[in-house]
Amino acid sequence: MERRECDILIIGSGIAGMSAAIHASHLSKGKLRVCLVSKLHAMRSHSVSAEGGISGVLYGSENNDSPDMHAYDTVKGSDFLADQDAVEILVKNAPKEIEFFDHIGVPWSRTGKGSISQRPFGGMTIPRTAFAADKTGFFMMRALYDELLSYGNVEILHEHYVTSMLVKRGKFICAYAVNLADRSGKVLSAKSCIIATGGYGRIFNFTTTAHSSTGDGVALAYNSGLPLKDMEFIQFHPTALVPTGVLITEAARGEGGYLLNAKGERFMERYAKSKMELAPRDIVSRSIITEIQAGRGILHEESGLSHVLLDLRHLDPEVIDEKLPMVKELTMKNINVDPHNEPIPVRPGAHYTMGGIHVDVHGRVFLDEKRSVAGLWSAGESACVSVHGANRLGSNSLSECAVWGRITGTEAARHAMSAGQNSALDAKSIGDFYGEEDEKIYELLNGSGSVNPYKLRDEMHGIMEKHMYVYRKVGGMKEAKKRLAKLYSMSKSICIEDKSTVYNTNFRDALEIKSLIALAYVATSCALERKESRGAHAVVEHSERDDRKWLKHTIAVKRGDSVGMYYSQVSITKWKPEKRVY
Ligand code: FUM
Repeated sequence: MERRECDILIIGSGIAGMSAAIHASHLSKGKLRVCLVSKLHAMRSHSVSAEGGISGVLYGSENNDSPDMHAYDTVKGSDFLADQDAVEILVKNAPKEIEFFDHIGVPWSRTGKGSISQRPFGGMTIPRTAFAADKTGFFMMRALYDELLSYGNVEILHEHYVTSMLVKRGKFICAYAVNLADRSGKVLSAKSCIIATGGYGRIFNFTTTAHSSTGDGVALAYNSGLPLKDMEFIQFHPTALVPTGVLITEAARGEGGYLLNAKGERFMERYAKSKMELAPRDIVSRSIITEIQAGRGILHEESGLSHVLLDLRHLDPEVIDEKLPMVKELTMKNINVDPHNEPIPVRPGAHYTMGGIHVDVHGRVFLDEKRSVAGLWSAGESACVSVHGANRLGSNSLSECAVWGRITGTEAARHAMSAGQNSALDAKSIGDFYGEEDEKIYELLNGSGSVNPYKLRDEMHGIMEKHMYVYRKVGGMKEAKKRLAKLYSMSKSICIEDKSTVYNTNFRDALEIKSLIALAYVATSCALERKESRGAHAVVEHSERDDRKWLKHTIAVKRGDSVGMYYSQVSITKWKPEKRVY
């Protein structure tokens, strides 16, 4: 058995995971052994593709802005499902994080006076999104990675896929990881563990998310019997490029871009008169689909996708070249459209999963309704803390990753520094766990399964696009749940045709597809139960928000092959739910 023992294990190497590793290392003055595991090369995590920016109040008195105003916008944007104690932590700490990234070398775009520029984003009353052109995530990741390499106590395991986790007697013990380079398995035991593996956007086919956004950490928690929260809330970004689904940043609208329908009308006037194109994403996405359903969309013949247009032609060409260079790069490369001269075809694409592992404001993973798992945290998109509630405001997720990267890294370090040695009982459990996991991997590769994983994935995509998209119908969700239950059961008999041991992508895909199908099933089951419309969950038959019955979080737990559910209270500190008008 190959076993690595460390103090802190961090699964996932995006902005949350790397921030956690840095802050844990800093706190312990480089003494704690930190192991950072990524199924990719760590620098290829999906955080690199974050474009438009990170929110935080930097110049409150100059701009008439305040953390409370940022909090209010966030809570209203969330359709009042966000936990307000968590939101207050977010807005208080976000500015400090932007400063931290400044110190470690992010080249923020700046005003003529040298201060950090901030642009408008959807649902925000004041421009408070800091940015590095439209490649913000890339620059933040690069700065984090450079910083991380300066710590001698951090080992990075690139291209290791964590397939399972052992939680015993309410305590995290270890995880099992497969080295994708040669398919060997190893046990990673640690005093503290942080899951920061991102979201599950790939349950959809038309998505802005990376191929790697397969919710592995969320599925890991679910399969370990740990609760997930608000899985039904999936954000559709209004401007995914047609036909590829690549993200065209909201910053394009923040810098003044218009949305036009087939008749050339700025249709947002009908849906959000005061905010227009900068209404929150759930509202803009619904507006686009309503226009398309009313026959005012444009058909992209080859893909069969209907779309509207994002028009930047009226902008000063310098704005596109200096503040949105990647928009031009992407549209030129993908569809040979120069946004200086032609409008861009866009439609809503799955972008962000508000749901995730049920954690408290410290990022501690819940074990059940009251207790948390000793030694286990989650941060970033894999976690649901919940600062975004039913709908996230653009640019709040980078702030969340940075804020809870630091919080969980600090907590995990403190825990590791005060914890004793692993007990002999743990050593026995670890040995048994390793044996079982090795056997499972062997079975997956060499067993008698006959199901083609790619057929399962394609069918799941078809179901999700049809029944769980921007508008949902009760009958459709019922049908989806039934079909997904079947796929879930079939996913236990997958056949992997390629038996090679070296970088077997067929094997990795199979693991990811298993995670996706489980999460698509959970998300659909939760959606079917929520009989109201709130944020990104819009149900045709229940078109109103119903605070009396549904101002609560959905908690989902694995019960054999079914999804058990209960509900938990939303934390309200200062802002009572009100009608959401923009
Ligand atoms: O449109 C964007 O640049 C996306 C930003 C975000 O999701 O926060």
